[in-house]
Amino acid sequence: MASKVTELTTYKAYLAGEWKASSSGETIAIKSPYLRETIGLVQAVTRNEVDEAITAAHEAQKSWAKLSLSERGAYLEKWADELTKNNEEIATAIMQEVGKGYSDAKKEVVRTADLIRYTVQEALHMHGESLRGDGFPGGSQKKLGIVQRVPLGVVLAISPFNYPVNLSASKIAPALMAGNGVIFKPATQGSISGIKMIEALSRTGLPKGILSLTTGRGSVIGDYLVEHKGINMITFTGGSDTGHHLSKQSAMIPMVLELGGKDPAIVCDDADLDVTVKSIMNGAFSYSGQRCTAIKRVLVNEKVADELVARLKAEVEKLKVGSPADDSTIVPLISDKAADTVQGLIDDALAKNATLVTGNKREKNLIYPTLLDHVSQAMDVAWIEPFGPVLPVIRVSSDEEAIEIANKSQYGLQASIFTQDIDRALAVARQVEAGTVQVNGRTERGPDHFPFLGVKASGMGVQGIHNSLISMSRQKVTVLNLK
Ligand code: NAP
Ligand code: G3H
Repeated sequence: MASKVTELTTYKAYLAGEWKASSSGETIAIKSPYLRETIGLVQAVTRNEVDEAITAAHEAQKSWAKLSLSERGAYLEKWADELTKNNEEIATAIMQEVGKGYSDAKKEVVRTADLIRYTVQEALHMHGESLRGDGFPGGSQKKLGIVQRVPLGVVLAISPFNYPVNLSASKIAPALMAGNGVIFKPATQGSISGIKMIEALSRTGLPKGILSLTTGRGSVIGDYLVEHKGINMITFTGGSDTGHHLSKQSAMIPMVLELGGKDPAIVCDDADLDVTVKSIMNGAFSYSGQRCTAIKRVLVNEKVADELVARLKAEVEKLKVGSPADDSTIVPLISDKAADTVQGLIDDALAKNATLVTGNKREKNLIYPTLLDHVSQAMDVAWIEPFGPVLPVIRVSSDEEAIEIANKSQYGLQASIFTQDIDRALAVARQVEAGTVQVNGRTERGPDHFPFLGVKASGMGVQGIHNSLISMSRQKVTVLNLK
């Protein structure tokens, strides 16, 4: 385990270009999920401060949008450099605050710097188009349409705990490159990492007011932000229930929602089990399964089920369990409540006669990796997203049955299909309701320039660098009527 935290910092919020303590006088204590002690305090910003931040963002956005793309890009390039330079400090904050393994936390920071640099390049290389008027019946060559992309105004970016830096920057970078102002509301458990990331951005000399960081509980300031008339677009990543709530609260503004998942790994009877086992292990258990794209159920053909389960068992029992400071794969979950939810799913499955292959051991919020076989559709773990290290195996007799069970889920983020027959893979991929289908690989968001989306309760709109730039801008058409 890492050593105890000795210095307790009270972090300021970044409001309209100034690092400030909130006038509320209230702070929120952030407790580390594995140190189980308070590691810092963040500001609970007030509604008035939210108003001021949004007003400042609108004011600053007018000049920001007039800067050339290269000028805006230069700030972001410096931001990426600052993140790289301070990788270890930021990774330590991520590790302590959300309990992510130190190496993975460092990879998150590097991935973020890469994402920012790619976003700048993508924005520099996106061009408008011109349309000929005579392309439509009765039209004339004297009419020329010029289509450009312009900013939306002020974007509200709300991020989840599990990638407190990467899933925040993947909203902020395209919003800024597209010429918008930004109000960033991090997950409360994730705020310190978010603050460190914004400290790096503020060191670039970013114009005052263009971005504010409003820390505070979603349950307290969330609705106020979402319903605010000064917000012109919302980009949100988090749970499906929260996303659904947000979509009801906001009115007449564009939204991108990246939500929960129950990604299936469909294993056919001709699958290469070496590839399958490696992909499922990595997909299901990294960061204790606290990834939206984690493999959250296995739908395996009964002909290969015994062998698959035996091989998974051997690998699960080798997983390193413990502290993120030791780069354990299985780490304490984000909260005791999260661990209660996972334990409840295991208990329900066992009470309904699932087979416990290995696991079902708990120490406070540390849940040992658990593999359940003979899971039936009557069990909650077949349908509910655990966000923890429990993997249910459902045996099926055909690809059709696997597809039917895959599609019965309310979710549709990603799915994996394992087979050595490409025609069979494509046939299954065509029928599975998901934003992305991975053939012979684990479910995952990257590479970050690919479109990333969920269908059904897994989301609305598309992320990925190019698509984020599109969704954070709109088309503006100027028509030349020539003599
Ligand atoms: P969450 O509880 O839904 O929180 C997400 C964000 O929403 C946090 O910043 C939270 O703030 C905020 N929030 C809560 N209530 C709000 C309200 N009424 N108005 C505005 N904002 C509000 O999710 P989480 O526990 O952080 O993350 C886990 C979930 O996110 C899982 O379901 C996972 O699958 C999903 N996720 C999806 C993706 C994806 O790309 N599809 C990626 C990562 C995670 P507070 O922290 O202050 O409550
Ligand atoms: O948790 C949700 C993230 O979007 C997953 O990203 O597939 O790179 O772990 P990842």
